[in-house]
Amino acid sequence: MNQCIVCLGRVSLSRGFSFVLSLAALLLAGGVFPLLGQDAAIQSSMARFHPAEGRQGMVATQEANATRAGLNVLKEGGNAVDAAVTVGFTLAVTLPRAGNIAGGGFMLAHLAESGKTIAIDYREKAPLGGFRDMFLDEKGEADSEKSRYSLLAAGVPGTVRGLALALENYGTISLARALQPAINLAENGFPVTDGLRKSLLEARERLQKSPAARKVFYNADGTPFKSGEILRQPDLTASLRLIAEKGPDAFYTGSIGARIAADMEAKGGLITLNDLASYQPVIRPVVKGAYRGYEVLSMPPPSSGGVHLIQILNLLEPYDLRSMGQQSAESIHLMAETMKLAYADRSKHLGDPDFAAIPVDGLISKEYAEHLRRTIKRDRAKPSNAIAPGQPRIFQESEETTHFSIVDRWGNAVANTYTLNLSYGNNYMVPGTGILLNNQMDDFSAKPGTPNAFGLIGGEFDAVEPGKRMLSSMAPTIVLKDGKPFIITGAAGGSRIISTVLQIIVNVIDHQMNIAEATNAPRVHHQWYPEELRVETGLSPDTLRLLMEKGHSISIKKTMGAAQSIHIEQGKLFASPDPRREDALAEGY
Ligand code: GLY
Repeated sequence: MNQCIVCLGRVSLSRGFSFVLSLAALLLAGGVFPLLGQDAAIQSSMARFHPAEGRQGMVATQEANATRAGLNVLKEGGNAVDAAVTVGFTLAVTLPRAGNIAGGGFMLAHLAESGKTIAIDYREKAPLGGFRDMFLDEKGEADSEKSRYSLLAAGVPGTVRGLALALENYGTISLARALQPAINLAENGFPVTDGLRKSLLEARERLQKSPAARKVFYNADGTPFKSGEILRQPDLTASLRLIAEKGPDAFYTGSIGARIAADMEAKGGLITLNDLASYQPVIRPVVKGAYRGYEVLSMPPPSSGGVHLIQILNLLEPYDLRSMGQQSAESIHLMAETMKLAYADRSKHLGDPDFAAIPVDGLISKEYAEHLRRTIKRDRAKPSNAIAPGQPRIFQESEETTHFSIVDRWGNAVANTYTLNLSYGNNYMVPGTGILLNNQMDDFSAKPGTPNAFGLIGGEFDAVEPGKRMLSSMAPTIVLKDGKPFIITGAAGGSRIISTVLQIIVNVIDHQMNIAEATNAPRVHHQWYPEELRVETGLSPDTLRLLMEKGHSISIKKTMGAAQSIHIEQGKLFASPDPRREDALAEGY
């Protein structure tokens, strides 16, 4: 997890003391610490902003080979869904910490001809042998080692059937064509980038406990490949080839599934062939909001992403953020106060809609926002313990993720976010398959009320149940202007996904920034608990001081979120990869 690099304001010490840091410390912190971590990639030469006059299609992903694979599909006449499926499989090879075939995710696709936008839910599910207390230790406490780094941590994967469903319903190319770049890159290899090498170094201790992963990603002496050395993945090549030849069933009912199930049985995992065979993605209606005349379409439950994105936009709408200024204490204060209210609601009301009635319409209604807004004070931060989940009306009816955005020449658009959950998932590769497993079971509430890996508190609706989908924060989003795609966005970042996507939208719509400015601007985040207003470096010390005077506990940590976004303005395509990820690339043709 990200560590607190500098915590300002009320800083809790280990013995429970707290104090307010002096302005001198604040100035020192604000001036001395640059963007840090894997995300120190602001200098990246790969990350390019494309003022793409006259371009017909655009692809923005977190990894350059995948961007180019998707772009080639567009150039050959494929549509945005064809390119998205190609990118999805390619990232499983070139961005193994998040790209995947044994994870899950969500795809939003805007179909220009019908004007409809659909949401494909290919989120993982709990195996049928899963049960409520499966991640508690003998003392009844949540055992995060078990929920993150054991075979039990893996949910039944959804990616292969999810991408295949998208292609079958909305694409034009064959599955074999979509898989070809992934197969080529796995078989012939590709040069290891600085970003890949760094992530392999960070994951070294855990990944090397998996003999198959150790063999693929490290030299015999345990060192990761150097930047520029060629990484080949022969077992993954064979798995991808099987899927290309036999279709998704190769994964779910065929020999790949058989290997996964046998390995699970031999080593104490829960996923059976029956779990795999019965897994199905679901096409769901998008959640819809309206913000300053734009239509905001995003992912419904089992993601909380779309619901709370729209809820926060509703809360913010009456405020004149533009005249307050993008980095003013006043606008950041309002963002923080509205985020807290939404994340408090998330802890109680969100979960898998197939298992509980989720009050989506209540949460995203303007009336509910109006009611909640009355509790916001312009001059004072409300302590988290004075905030509880609200009571939206129940209408009668229910740290390593990656996002990519694609637009084609016909105006179709795809926003796709998918994940293994944490970097390299549960850090286990199924022998003989080249496939890394997710650790998405950690997104369930192991013990309702106890935080998960992102510090998020989950409620009863997110307790483990057989066949249930775990709650997500992923928020692939398409904003329409006059019925046509205007912003296509989404982000990695666990609990920070919602606030990252929110800030992209607010930066473009309210602060009139171009998509590169909107992406690069320092981000802020408040998720109710922990009680901290987390900020990236780059905010001015006087803004931080004003926020502290309003009662915020400021915490400067690593960068937050990684958004890959496209902005369409007057028919022109603009894209921006997130410079917080050094291998990201947006390119058009
Ligand atoms: N695993 C991160 C999310 O789904 O929100």
